Order: sequence, then C-alpha cells, then structure tokens
Amino acid sequence: MCGIVGFTGRQQAAPILLEGLSKLEYRGYDSAGVVVRDGDASAEIVKAKGRLKVLSEKTNGGEAVPGTCGIGHTRWATHGEPSENNAHPHSSDDMNVVAVHNGIIENYQEIKDKLLKKGYTFYSQTDTEALVKLVDYYYKKYQVGPIDALAKTMVRVRGSYALAVMFKDYPGEIYVARKDSPMILGIADGESYIASDVPAILKYTRNVYYIGNLEMARLTKGEIEFYNIDGEIIEKELTEIKWDAESAEKGGYEYFMMKEIHEQPKAIRDTINAVVSDGKIDLSSVGITEEQIRDVNQIHIVACGSAYHVGVVAQYVIEDLVRIPVRVELASEFRYRNPLLQDNDMVLIISQSGETADSLAAMREAKNRGIRTLAIVNVVGSSIAREADNVFYTLAGPEIAVATTKAYSCQLVACYLLALEFARVRGTLKDNDYQEMLRELDTLPAKIEKIIEDKERIQWFASKYVNAKDVFFLGRGIDYAICLEGSLKMKEISYVHSEAYAAGELKHGTISLIEDGTLVISVLTQQELYEKMVSNMVEVKSRGACLMGLTTYGHYNIEDTVDFATYIPKTDRHFSASLAVVPLQLMGYYLSLAKGLDVDKPRNLAKSVTVE
Ligand code: F6R
Repeated sequence: MCGIVGFTGRQQAAPILLEGLSKLEYRGYDSAGVVVRDGDASAEIVKAKGRLKVLSEKTNGGEAVPGTCGIGHTRWATHGEPSENNAHPHSSDDMNVVAVHNGIIENYQEIKDKLLKKGYTFYSQTDTEALVKLVDYYYKKYQVGPIDALAKTMVRVRGSYALAVMFKDYPGEIYVARKDSPMILGIADGESYIASDVPAILKYTRNVYYIGNLEMARLTKGEIEFYNIDGEIIEKELTEIKWDAESAEKGGYEYFMMKEIHEQPKAIRDTINAVVSDGKIDLSSVGITEEQIRDVNQIHIVACGSAYHVGVVAQYVIEDLVRIPVRVELASEFRYRNPLLQDNDMVLIISQSGETADSLAAMREAKNRGIRTLAIVNVVGSSIAREADNVFYTLAGPEIAVATTKAYSCQLVACYLLALEFARVRGTLKDNDYQEMLRELDTLPAKIEKIIEDKERIQWFASKYVNAKDVFFLGRGIDYAICLEGSLKMKEISYVHSEAYAAGELKHGTISLIEDGTLVISVLTQQELYEKMVSNMVEVKSRGACLMGLTTYGHYNIEDTVDFATYIPKTDRHFSASLAVVPLQLMGYYLSLAKGLDVDKPRNLAKSVTVE
C-alpha cells in the first residue's frame, strides 16, 4: 500500500524523504514523488513512474530539490492507472495546497463534481486530487487556518486517509490528518517526521506519537501539536520504539525474507518468554482474566491471508485442547455477513500489521455488537492493537518482506499459548500434560534452527521445478492448514499456480488436474492420519504426479512412495505447523530466487492491505 514520509527540520529534506521511502518499498508501489520547499520559495514537486531509483535519478539523489521541509509518497494505484500524472504529491492549481495521501476517498466523485461546478479543473484520475482541492476550497472559502480547513474536509469526506499537507502560507510546516490509515509522527532535536511505518524514520528517531482516528497534527521543526476534529488541542504520549535500526536492515542476507526465516527461532522464543515464566503462562500483559476465559462460549477467529491460515491451525488446536467451538473466517467475509454472535463469544483477530482494513472492520463490527475482542498483533500502536479489548503482542520485530514468515510463526505460537492457558483454566488439560506441552513449546526454536540448517536440499529440489506451472499441496487436519500457507508462499512470490487441498477432498474433482510431472507436495506430520495420506499420495502418483513428502524423522519408508522426502523433528502433534511450515517457506523462497524474481517485493502485492 502507499507509503508516506515527511520531514521538517534543519537538514535537507529530499535525501531523508528518499531514504525513508526506500524503507517503505516493501509495502508495494508503482510510482513515487516528493515535494520540497526551500524557506518561503514555492514548493517543487518531482514525480516518477516505476521504482524509486527513477525518482532518485530525476532529483539527483535529492540535490535538485533543495529545502528543509517536504513530503514524499510511494503510490500503489487504486483510482487511476500507475502513471506520473496520477503519482503523488497532488496540488491545487495555484500550489496553495500540496499533499500526499494513503487510503481511499469513497465519495470522491461527488466531491469532484461539486468542485467542478465551483470552477476547479482536474488533471489526474485520483481520489487524492479531489481531496486536496477540497482542502483548498474550504481554506479559501472560509478564510480559516490549515487545521480548520482540514477539519471541514474530514467532515465532508467518506473513506480512509493518512493525509500530509503543506500550505503555501505556512512554510516549514506540515499538517496531517488521519482516519483508518496508518501514520506515525516522530520527533528529535529540532526535527519532526511523519511516516506510514516505523522503518522509514527509525534511522533518525525512536520517539514517536501515534495519531488517532479523526485527529490532526501540525508539525514544525522539532515540535508537534495534536488536534481533535473540533480543532481543539489534545495531548499525546510519546512512545519509544524498541526495535533497533539494524533489525530493519538486511544484515548480509540477499533478501529480507531469508533473513526473516532465520529470525524465526528468536522471534518465537521472545514471544514465548514474554508470557511464560516458571513453567506457567501469565496473560496479565494481555489483560484477560481467568474469569473471562471461563465465560467464553465460542471463539470466532477472523483474519486475512497468512494470518487466516494461522487461524485454521488454531481452530484445530483450540477445539482439541479447550473443547469449545471455534469458527475461523476470512475478515472480508465476516464483516459483511451479519454473523451470529452471542454475548459470551470472543472474537480473536490475528494481524501482523494491525492495519489490515478488513480485519480492522471485522473487529469493529464485533465491538459494536458488544463482543469481547482479543487481537494477536505484531505492530505496537497499530489501529487493531489500540482498539481491541485485549492485545497479545507477537515479538517478531519489524517484518519487511511482503511474504510473511516470522510473524506467521509467532502468531501460531501465540495461539498455542492461548489454547494452553484456556485449557488449563477451564480444566480440559491435565496439569502434567500442560507442563509437558509447555516444555515442548520451548524446544520449537532449536528444532526450527535444525530445519533451516538443511536448507540447501530444498534449494536443490526447488531449482528442478523452476518451470512448474501448477503445484498441489495435500494434507489432512493440521497438515491441511499448513498446506494452505505453503501454497500461498509459493504462489505469491514464485508466481506458480498452486492450490492446497484437504487430501480426502481430492477425489471429488481436483484429481482430474493431475497429469504427468505435476508436482504434488504432501505434508504428513499427523501420526494417526499418516496411512490415509500415503494412500492419497499413491493415488496421485499412479496418475503421473511427481511427489514431494514432508514428514517427521523416522518415517523413512515414505521414500518408497515419493520422489523427494524432507524431514522435520518430531513434536507434539498440535505444534507441528510451526516446524512443517519452514521447508515450505524455503521452497517458495528458492523457487522465486531460481526464477530471478524480486523475492521481497512480489508484483501487485502490498505488505499491509489498508484498503478493502
Ligand atoms: C502473505 C501475507 C498476507 C498477510 C495478510 C494479512 O505472505 O503476508 O497474506 O498475512 O495480508 O496481513 P496482516 O497480518 O498484516 O493483517
């Protein structure tokens, strides 16, 4: 999704903007632009289609646009094709108002029609241009200051926005407004920053403010004032970001995704250690009490993409250990379905970014109905984290690669911990088993390290399938849930069509797609389903499939059936997703690498999907 960076201070703005935008590249974009102002001189806009490199060349690394106040943007097209014309910043014709925007203005056509009648002309197809010109219109019509003009605009528009604006009459100042799109504001000695996400400004400051929904701010050099929609000044607390700048860098790896795969053991260990001490889970940081846990009748898990796949695993684990009904649902479906929710239900939202539009909307739907919401979130201070009744933070650190790996793994572990604690409190798990499972959880990081050590074998196998057109993933139970994630990893970064099937479902249609040489990846970590899985594999093999089998050490007879076997250490059957997913992440990674693709920035994808 679009990225925003802004700076006002003593240094030259353009290099800071370009550097900040480069740290937001992972969000996905198709064009970029900056506007910089040198004192009272008029602001200068430079835009470019394509990679940031083009913008950097056009501005000579920023030198061609001198000035100490500016805003920059990477655009991920929603309204209007990717083009220089549609790229941000956008401005009023007289350059009175210049702005960048992340989000969608739903009633932009209505606003545009109104402004056309008032004599405004339009040069782009974007909703942002209408937004900018509306700010200009109110500013001039009512002869008010920037905050009042923004407040009037916010009342008039529908949709989502993180908006950063510079006004001709206010040199050295940046104004921002926010609703449902991420934005943080950073502060350092004599300098102020804005950004869509922490990595963009981490090099300059760790001290940030989170701006709330329907709030505005005015940034001057080293000072930030916040306002509510009535234009009244409000107080905000400064938060210190704990991530170090290094964790947002590649640290010698070719791609962030590989670095993040390697970071999984530490991320999982940190997530466990945050809530487990002395052989006991302590959810006081999550804020959920034993009484509340006892009262829950049903859990509805809502999430998108990989986070939804975590939910599918969690459904198996929680129902089995806690014996309460769990329903897992895509947030985009849940929010419009008028779901049946009872008083003692709980909605569990899973989200790395905490900004996914559908997950946020689904959570609000549950809250509006008076249902308790518990969120598993990675990004501190994100919208979901701030609005949920309870938050379980995963400690994955910044995840930059578009394809999630370490955040997914931490989300799984957070779900296991919730399942264990719910089971203990509700008495569905014997104390011995609880202790044993906690000890087993602790062994997962070392087991993942062992799997990663063997990565070259997966690389060798992946390189043989560089021309694969279709891949099928088969599994039963939790293994099916793992297949969903393995299949997504493959298609999103390798652009290979892949599908995941519950192996028992194969005969009901899909098997007709299997032909000579089709790659079928089978996951067999569940002992009681092993034989059934082998039968399904024999079925596809006899129709010409080439088989990869992913199972636990000891099941070496799998080699009689498959063309390539890969093994993971044994673990409690409830936790097997945490291990089995790693070879599948590596498979997607190496296939993408062998095809010469940009592993971290797959086409058409954004890291954080902040629009519907
Ligand atoms: C896939 C991936 C996405 C996200 C999904 C939800 O690798 O990363 O499918 O899982 O967009 O994002 P969050 O977790 O930020 O809500």
